[in-house]
Amino acid sequence: MGLGPYCLGGNLLGGLAMLAGKRILLIIGGGIAAYKALELIRLIQKAGGSVVPVLTRAGAEFVTPLSVGALAGSKVYQDLFDLTDEAEMGHIQLSRAADLVVVAPATADLMAKMASGRADDLASTVLLATDKRVLVAPAMNVRMWDHPATRRNLGVLRGDGVLVVGPDEGEMACGEYGPGRMAEPAAIVAAIGAALGGGPLAGRHVVVTSGPTHEPIDPVRYIANRSSGAQGTAIAVALRDLGARVTFVTGPAAVPAPAGVAVVAVETAAEMAAAVAAALPADAAVMAAAVADWRVANASGQKLKKDGSGKAPALEFAENVDILAAVSKGAMRPRLVVGFAAETTDVVAHATAKRVRKGCDWIVANDVSPATGIMGGAENAAVLITDGGAEAWPRMGKDAVARKLAAKIAEALA
Ligand code: CTP
Repeated sequence: MGLGPYCLGGNLLGGLAMLAGKRILLIIGGGIAAYKALELIRLIQKAGGSVVPVLTRAGAEFVTPLSVGALAGSKVYQDLFDLTDEAEMGHIQLSRAADLVVVAPATADLMAKMASGRADDLASTVLLATDKRVLVAPAMNVRMWDHPATRRNLGVLRGDGVLVVGPDEGEMACGEYGPGRMAEPAAIVAAIGAALGGGPLAGRHVVVTSGPTHEPIDPVRYIANRSSGAQGTAIAVALRDLGARVTFVTGPAAVPAPAGVAVVAVETAAEMAAAVAAALPADAAVMAAAVADWRVANASGQKLKKDGSGKAPALEFAENVDILAAVSKGAMRPRLVVGFAAETTDVVAHATAKRVRKGCDWIVANDVSPATGIMGGAENAAVLITDGGAEAWPRMGKDAVARKLAAKIAEALA
């Protein structure tokens, strides 16, 4: 592998020094997710960074200054008008001494303050005074996240150059379900690494295709396949976490598109081909989409109706453009092109032939026979086909496959 600390295996951050010597000013807002800030401090330190914590008044309702300070090994800053702090380190200096300011959890209230430039407590004052980049990890109730005011504030913050990680979708402490849960600490650390130009793929652009395509029969019906988009999504996340700029071209997938990547949502193979072409140039392309091989050539502009004769309509098919082959053989070919092969028989033989036929560098092949449970499932048993032969990977989670592949891509582009 040769990637040293970036050979992540099953552990996203195992022993790597991605944040070596980096100073993070961590603002802990007042939300139930504040408890995750403790784990975040630990992971930042594990990655070689140091943390100076600022705890808001509301944040201190969820975690104690004692636990934050003990973990961070630092004084915990809480009050704007604490004269001792002003003598030791004023809020201006506090905001400048860091390499990055991270707000986790970023509550709706803190985001609103940031968006309107208020400075009525230490956290908001530091955020207004800083000359460093700011990364926020929003965490709030799903309705608060979806509220037009929060969406507006988020737009303002993004426009101001604030980086955003998460939120995740899932069950929330308040019992509701949806987006609003703070990103996992490991994902925040990865975003910190990317923000600081860490990661072996920093400065690289990778195009990832994912999900199925839908080929219309008429305005209400379409032909699709069982791809969930899980593997492509995991690959986009893994590449992002290694610092890559990712353009994520996705068909109508069952899993939500990840944060922190440029999402281009498409429906048909033709739209996917156009979106991929528009995304080039890139350093690498990973074509994980299950593109429909055929579209309905005689798709109807109106809904097909039963005519009472009992005769079913005859569909005619036309072959779709092979996006992988087109990119591999095109003038804008990325340095590394990775395809996927979903096979049900003679996996290695078929995938090896496919690599040559399509002109890509690598093929990640897997056996999608129904008995394997891979298509639509959480695991994958992949074989990596390169010009050097076939390398069988043990069966593992799709996230682990993604991280292994991303590490290999980083190695190849180094
Ligand atoms: N692919 C593509 N465009 C298509 C079809 C497939 O880019 N129109 C890509 C997929 O994203 C994947 C790879 O090609 O990376 C393999 O797809 P697969 O459907 O397995 O290959 P086929 O060429 O259709 O081969 P077969 O008919 O043997 O299944």
